[in-house]
Order: sequence, then C-alpha cells, then structure tokens
Amino acid sequence: MTPPDPLRPQAAREAPRLPWWREAVFYQVNVRTFQDSNGDGVGDFPGLTARLPYLAGLGVDALWLQPFYPSPRRDDGYDVADYRDVHPEYGTLDDLRAFLQEAHRLGLRVVADLVLNHTSDQHPWFQAARQGPENPFFPWYVWSETGQEYAGARRLLGGAETSNWAWDGQAGKYYWHRFFAHQPDLNYDHPPVRETMLDVVRFWLDLGLDGFRVDAVPFLYEREGTGCENLPQTHAYIARLRTLLEREYPDRVLIAEANQRPQNLLAYFGGPGAEEFQMCFNFPLAAQLFVALARGDARPLRALLEQLPTPPCGGGWANFLRNHDELNLRMVDPADVQVLHAHYGADPRAALYGGLRRRLAPLLGHDPRRLALAQMLLLALPGTPFLYYGDEIGLGDDLSLPDRFGLRTPMAWSAAAGAGFSPAGTLTLPLAPGWPQVNVERQEQDPASLLHRVRAFLHLRRRHPALRTGETRFLDTAAPGLLAFERTAGEEQVLMLVNLGHVESAFELPAPRLDLDRGGWLEGHVTVPAGEVLTLGTMP
Ligand code: GLC
Ligand code: CA
Repeated sequence: MTPPDPLRPQAAREAPRLPWWREAVFYQVNVRTFQDSNGDGVGDFPGLTARLPYLAGLGVDALWLQPFYPSPRRDDGYDVADYRDVHPEYGTLDDLRAFLQEAHRLGLRVVADLVLNHTSDQHPWFQAARQGPENPFFPWYVWSETGQEYAGARRLLGGAETSNWAWDGQAGKYYWHRFFAHQPDLNYDHPPVRETMLDVVRFWLDLGLDGFRVDAVPFLYEREGTGCENLPQTHAYIARLRTLLEREYPDRVLIAEANQRPQNLLAYFGGPGAEEFQMCFNFPLAAQLFVALARGDARPLRALLEQLPTPPCGGGWANFLRNHDELNLRMVDPADVQVLHAHYGADPRAALYGGLRRRLAPLLGHDPRRLALAQMLLLALPGTPFLYYGDEIGLGDDLSLPDRFGLRTPMAWSAAAGAGFSPAGTLTLPLAPGWPQVNVERQEQDPASLLHRVRAFLHLRRRHPALRTGETRFLDTAAPGLLAFERTAGEEQVLMLVNLGHVESAFELPAPRLDLDRGGWLEGHVTVPAGEVLTLGTMP
C-alpha cells in the first residue's frame, strides 16, 4: 500500500458526496494518436502531458488511457507483450510518472486499460509456453490436442477468425483465443496466472493510476457445455480483484467492458459481500441512442432509460456514444439494425463484425448541431459520461484503414499539423479527411464551433449538481422526436428538452424556466427546432 499522494485530487470536505467516479466526465484517449512530442510521428506521454491543459480546460475530470504497454500492436496494444512497462515509442515509466503527477496536479484522475483475458503471442509467457508441456509456462495458456472443445463459444471476430482454436506448430497443439489468433487466452484455472495479474494491478496502482477499464471481462474462464461467457468463476475472480482494491487502494475504480444484455451486465456489479465493478459500460444505451437518432424517435430510448435497472451496491452506468471499436449492434432489434445500416452504412466498408466502424461525426453526417445534441444528451443523462477523443471537434474517420483503425484517427490540433502523424508501428495513420477544417485551433477561433458548445455544456454540468447527481424523471411530450426529462437535486431542477426528431416540436412549460445555455426566461409554449437542445433551470 502506498502513502497518500499529496497531489491526488482529494474528495471535497462537505459530506455526503458520491464517489468521484459517479460525478466525473471521462475522456477516452489513445497515447499513440493524441500528441507526438519528438517528431517520430507517434504520440507519446510527453506529448499527452503537454496537452493536459487543453483537457483540464475542456472540463473533463478523468482520462481513460487505452493500452500503452509494450506490444506488437497488431490489435492496437490490446495484444500486450509486457504488463509492467510503457511501449518505448510512447516514452518511459518515468514519462508516465511525470504525466500522472501533472494530471493529478490539474485535478484529473487517470484510469488505464487492463487486458486480463489474453496476451500477445509475442509475450515471453507464450513464447515459453509454446515449448511444450514440460515448460513451466505451458499451463499459463489453454491448450487442446484436437481443437474441438468449447464448441458452444461464439466467435467474437467472425470474419477475421474462423475458429477460437489456433494450431501452434511448435507446441504441436491447439491454443484457445477469443479474439485474434495472435492473442492467446490466459488460463485462469492456473493459480499463478490469477496471482500474477493481481500483482500487475498492484504495480499500476502503486504507480498512481486511479483505476482500470477492464478489457474483455466475460471471457476469463472456459467450461465445456457453456458459451464460455459470464461464468461464475469469472465473477469470483473479479470479486477478488475488487476486494484487493477495497483493502489496499480505496477510492480507485474498476470499470467493466462487458458487451452484454442488461441482465448479464448487471451481474458484473456483483452483490453485497461480493462486489465486482463500480461501473459497467452501458452498451444497450449506446446502440439505442443511434437508433433514436436515425429514426428521429425518442420513445424507444425513453423506454430503455426508464427500464434500465439501477446498479446495485452504489454502482453506476458508464455511458458513451462511441469508442475505439465498431458500434456494436448485437443488442439491437433486427428491424432497427436494418434502419441503422440503411441510415449510417451508406459506405459498405463501414460494416464490421455485425456493427458499424465509424466515428461519431460521420455517423451523424458531420452536422455540428446533431453532434452537439448527441454529446449534450450524453452529458445530461443519469450515469457517468465517457467522451471519445476527437468527438468534441467532430473528428472524421478513415475507412481505407483496416479493421477498426479507421476510427482511431489522430487528434487534429491545427491546420498546420498535417504531417504530424505518419508511421505508427507497422501501420500508417493519416489524419482524418477534413482535418484542415476540423481541428482544435480552428474551432477555438470560432465561438459557434462544436468545441465551444461541448466545452460550454461541460462547464454548465459542473455548475449544476442536478445534471451530475439529480434524480431523473421523464415527461410526456406530444412529439415522438422530443425527449423531455427533469433532473432534480435538492432545490435545483434542470429540464432537458432534446429534439431528436426531424421537425420542430412544441412543449408546454408548467412554470417559467431559465435558459441555462443561452440565458433569458422562457414560459408557456416553447418550440424546440429539430436537432436542438434546451437546457432549462429553476435557479439562476
Ligand atoms: C476489447 C477492446 C478491443 C479489442 C478486444 C480484444 O473489446 O475494446 O479493441 O480488440 O477487447 O482485446
Ligand atoms: Ca513520439
């Protein structure tokens, strides 16, 4: 256990308050594509450190760093080759320490991806394991003579992989992998794997990280006759991980990436005496938000939000619009999937693994109004919002890149930064088309830009506790496209009128309200233009 870090943001004194991660806005960022500091065309920790004032000024409270560990990066770092170091192109452990210190000084917390399920095939553990059953690392992975076991497990990357087993010539056996064949699954039935990964967790928490986004959670264990997902053994291991945090590192957070239906997802919060994650990504909501935007109909979205269970054990939902993966449509009704593909999949290259590999801006037709609406809605809904870097400026994507790399386009800082990012490892990552217009410098100069609107709303959210912690109540509206909800905390109430529809809609205000966004009082009959949001308060 480490002594308290004097620079770590301390919880404010007035009690009772929610844990910091319940009130925070997170910003997801990939070190590789954010800011290069030494001209090699690859983003790095010194670069990210230099951009911390931008992030603090934007008004986010915490950062989620995608994997920055040594890796061949065939899966953008989710193929880890060393769990206790920084990829040399991103800097050193000392660069990371300096970054953390500066982030904490500016009041920003930092969580990182923790890839428990699998390693890279280049990891020394796997290289040793391949030498065969006599090698002490052999049982660290899942092997088979026939490659026939666990036939009930679905293939997650159908199209890219034809089986969850891959033949290893050196070992003369098959090994198990839920993701790419170059990502062999670790064997959590082998005690040293379980203990070693807990030590990896301690290593990073000792270094000062504020928690983890835990990758690919449902797949830790395999059992014959099951789908090898969400097994009780997986839950038991996560509960151990949580106990470690509670005992040794209170105030840190675990966030689950479990792309599951609400009931299976809810299980990842655990229960009394066996708590698991404090937050789970709200995959059902992300898909439904895009259905609502495509159909211009807010009603199914309202139904989903009203039926969404309250997480047990004081947990919270981690809400998001987009991330670095394809927009997953597994949980969407077939009729809605058709609408989504028709609406958003105009370019056939967008389809991947049954979903759509696009950033937010191309999904919403690069329309700044709809981009602002989507992000304001995200920031006003109950739960903890996660923004994906670049969405605050409407950064584009690049469908000419393979797999999901097209939606991991480098941050565009200025019109002069064109040559900034070139070779990133084995992959060339050009700036997204449109960057000469869509960049931070240009939007800073334009007070009507998307960046200004998103930033203003982030600051408005900071000033109004109702938007962060308030109870939520949905109101009936006559227009199907208009979503109306109140958030109430103590004396304060904020009414959000979000017009997801394609036509102007009217709403009857029960009492005069202050327009918190534009200023001025409104009363009686108000109209909300298509694609617009009204944020109305009861208190100045
Ligand atoms: C998660 C990541 C994804 C990665 C996969 C395998 O789903 O978000 O990018 O490919 O895990 O680690
Ligand atoms: Ca660099």
